[in-house]
Amino acid sequence: MKQVALALGMAFLTVGTVPASAQSTYDRIKVDAGETLFFSECRRCHAPDPTDPSYGPQLDNIVGRQAGTVPGYEYSSALKNSGIVWTPAALRAWMEDNDGFMPGTKMRHVGIEDRTVQDFILAYLGSISGK
Ligand code: HEC
Repeated sequence: MKQVALALGMAFLTVGTVPASAQSTYDRIKVDAGETLFFSECRRCHAPDPTDPSYGPQLDNIVGRQAGTVPGYEYSSALKNSGIVWTPAALRAWMEDNDGFMPGTKMRHVGIEDRTVQDFILAYLGSISGK
């Protein structure tokens, strides 16, 4: 695997642009890595699937969704009345420092500052959002 990664890395360096097939391989790897990270960082409170009850609101279709709108979920008023839409930038800020981004919600603080980890989780959230 190391050799393959190296060979791919070399190919990128020499060609300069990423070939389309390698790009989609990279996207798939990001989604897979994001799924693993989602399961370690978010899954204990959030389900990726609306039929699966969990402590936090389900996160299917979260990218582009109006905040605080899962039917029947008891949101804090901070989140319910925030009026924001979960764009990738908002999700990134939330993962980085949810309390700083929106004080007074019920979500325990997560502090994912590593941009690569954010990228992977975003790729996964996008994949369960039909985006
Ligand atoms: C310890 C439990 C817990 C963990 C871990 C957790 N969350 Fe949450 N999350 C919540 C709760 C509870 C809410 C609802 C907050 C409210 O109503 O104030 C929430 C709300 C959200 C919302 C807003 C959803 C909406 O419908 O508007 C997003 C987005 C979100 N979490 C993403 C994440 C992501 C991504 C992770 C992992 C990086 C994560 N959360 C980790 C408990 C958690």
